[in-house]
Amino acid sequence: MHLSRVRVQSLRIVDSVSLDPSPHLNFITGANGSGKSSLLEAIYLLGTGRSFRTRRNSELIQRGEEKLCVSATVVSGTGDQQILGVEKTVSATRIRIGGKNMWNASSLAQSLPVMAILPDSLGVVTGSADLRRSLMDWALFHVKPGYLSVLQSYKQALRQRNALLRQGGGGIALESWDERVGEFGQLLHSWRQEYLGDAQDIVRGFSERLLGIPVDVRYRPGWKDDISLKLALGRSLDADRRRGSTTVGPHRADLELSSEGVAVRGRLSRGEAKLLAVAVFLAYAQYVTTRTGHKPVLLIDDLAAELDERNRHLFLDAVAGMGIQVFITASEPRLLETDCSAEAAMFHVEQGAMRRVV
Ligand SMILES: Nc1ncnc2c1ncn2[C@@H]1O[C@H](COP(=O)(O)OP(=O)(O)O)[C@@H](O)[C@H]1O
Ligand SMILES: [Mg+2]
Repeated sequence: MHLSRVRVQSLRIVDSVSLDPSPHLNFITGANGSGKSSLLEAIYLLGTGRSFRTRRNSELIQRGEEKLCVSATVVSGTGDQQILGVEKTVSATRIRIGGKNMWNASSLAQSLPVMAILPDSLGVVTGSADLRRSLMDWALFHVKPGYLSVLQSYKQALRQRNALLRQGGGGIALESWDERVGEFGQLLHSWRQEYLGDAQDIVRGFSERLLGIPVDVRYRPGWKDDISLKLALGRSLDADRRRGSTTVGPHRADLELSSEGVAVRGRLSRGEAKLLAVAVFLAYAQYVTTRTGHKPVLLIDDLAAELDERNRHLFLDAVAGMGIQVFITASEPRLLETDCSAEAAMFHVEQGAMRRVV
């Protein structure tokens, strides 16, 4: 998949921008506050219906305006074209796909898989499990139809169970939530188990290429899965009551990164951990491409500044080698200089206005 004819109107500092990106590498430079991240946010909106920075439409809409609009043509690998549009007012989001109104943001994600790698994403190796879980959920959403709706049902059942635990409830009500949490959770687990294994070789390949060490990624289910989740819920009931929340299940799952059987966390320098984080994200993007035949669009914000020169080159070369459409921002063109920069379309942003440089 790649985007052409991107139009952004009234999104933060971006008043009105039309851009014809390259189907491959797009480098966006500009001073701090010029609107680089806002442009990536616009593309992210097209693939998800939401921002990666805020949940509030009022923050995204340009001050003094009533709504923002983003649109673009998505071109598939076989050349099919479809126009996507997202419009936001303070209280509503309107989605159009191929001229039809849609009510569900997940239809955007099906039409346009996007992956955003942000400075915060670099914590995927050393930080909390949330980031790793959202990465696995992102991948599974794309490779397994029906995953999202089961995940949503699971989360809803979990909220109900937790509410009941906090109220000190039990009996039949609790049993029926255990039933649902157990059933949806077991299904999520079986899909994660079935599909994520294939990502393992890809992660090894990317980490070997970027860091020089093959890193294994192992899926951890979130409970000791030698017993069913339903049984595990029953066994953890006393502990869960004390805590007022459910301590076992796929919402506690994780991806464990190790090399030669030893966890890499704590063994890597800060620079290496960041580079491995990039490798893991790129590997999952590659995994989704291989599994679905659809290449996600990659949005990479401000990462160049986080990596030293050598790692920056390794990272940019790896991205370029994937042959997918990428939008990469940096405050200075110098940060994006590498062997592949000659192939890239270069854009410069100033005060929310954009021009193509090369
Ligand atoms: N709703 C808004 N209306 C107008 N300007 C905004 C709005 N939200 C943020 N901005 C401005 O947009 C700029 C942020 O742009 P951003 O995309 O983060 O820049 P960059 O990534 O290049 O540093 C800031 O100057 C900020 O003041
Ligand atoms: Mg920025």
